[in-house]
Amino acid sequence: MHSIASYFKPDASGADPKQASFIPSLKLNDGHDIPMLAYGLGTKASKTKTTKSDDIINPTVAAIKAGYFHLDGAESYGNEEELGAAIKKSGVARERLFVTTKTSCREGVTIEEAFSASLAKLKLDYVDLYLIHSPFWAKSPQDLQRAWAEMEAIKESGRAKSIGVSNYLQEHLETTLQTARVPPAVNQIEYHPYLQHGDLVDFCRKNEIAVEAYAPLTAVTKATGGPVEPIYQVLARKYGVSEGEIALRWCLDQGIIAITTSSNELRLQTYMRNIPAFKLTPKEVDDIAKAGQGKHFRGFWGAQFSDDDRR
Ligand SMILES: NC(=O)c1ccc[n+]([C@@H]2O[C@H](COP(=O)([O-])OP(=O)(O)OC[C@H]3O[C@@H](n4cnc5c(N)ncnc54)[C@H](OP(=O)(O)O)[C@@H]3O)[C@@H](O)[C@H]2O)c1
Repeated sequence: MHSIASYFKPDASGADPKQASFIPSLKLNDGHDIPMLAYGLGTKASKTKTTKSDDIINPTVAAIKAGYFHLDGAESYGNEEELGAAIKKSGVARERLFVTTKTSCREGVTIEEAFSASLAKLKLDYVDLYLIHSPFWAKSPQDLQRAWAEMEAIKESGRAKSIGVSNYLQEHLETTLQTARVPPAVNQIEYHPYLQHGDLVDFCRKNEIAVEAYAPLTAVTKATGGPVEPIYQVLARKYGVSEGEIALRWCLDQGIIAITTSSNELRLQTYMRNIPAFKLTPKEVDDIAKAGQGKHFRGFWGAQFSDDDRR
């Protein structure tokens, strides 16, 4: 196991964090720090899964109390009120938390209008990170460029400390960067061994855009039985952790922020205890990446891609 004696904050270049006794944070290209493990409100906690507010608020409070200070929300999850209520109920000071929400770029609604509505629902004065949820609504490159200019105006107002994008392919990033005054700080994408997106992660690193991985547990949840499973099993035994923790560490050890979620408080607490206590070697990271190339699986936004499209 790597030493836990040294501590080093990575940036968006893909440098992996040195070992620490807590979840590391990463420095974004605008100077803000982002915790590298997040609790997401988009899958289990989404309003499409439950309509009872307490079913969202209470697990989120438990997650915050367990140490998940990076909270990943979105307008489309329909639960920004509950996220805001959980933040208040947790009693944790606002400035210790890192709160993300996302705009769906709905037709007929400006991003400023969507953002003001999100802030009102969250009952917050600012978010730490505001994202364009996907590029797929845009009918032209100019649509993406205009949307990004609206994001820049929100950042300039101080109500979003950082701004970024989600589900962007290289072509969408290139279009955005052509006219951007402020480059996106992050690109949040589905990322796991069975969806490594060709050159996209390298492109983000070269442009100092931090990568956030959603659905990082896919190889142990929705796409079981694939070629990384035996490697996860061996490493889980070696480090005395679960296969899911290997999957999360695989992201962190590539300098990638991992966004997970769980309705199981014990699972969340165990992640917090185990993940800072071990680190994969570069060879182990590489072995998982190489084995992952043997299978392709995409769990989200599939309608936008053909079955064999690995971008
Ligand atoms: N930007 C986007 O378009 C986008 C899309 C999707 C997601 N996201 C964000 O990413 C967050 C996380 O997404 P995700 O839920 O796909 O992440 P994930 O970390 O891959 O999966 C979490 C799920 O795995 C389950 N799980 C954990 N260990 C397991 C095991 N050993 N066996 C079976 N199931 C297990 C958990 O269930 P338990 O509750 O039982 O622990 C939980 O439902 C979302 O909430 C959202 O914030 C963003």
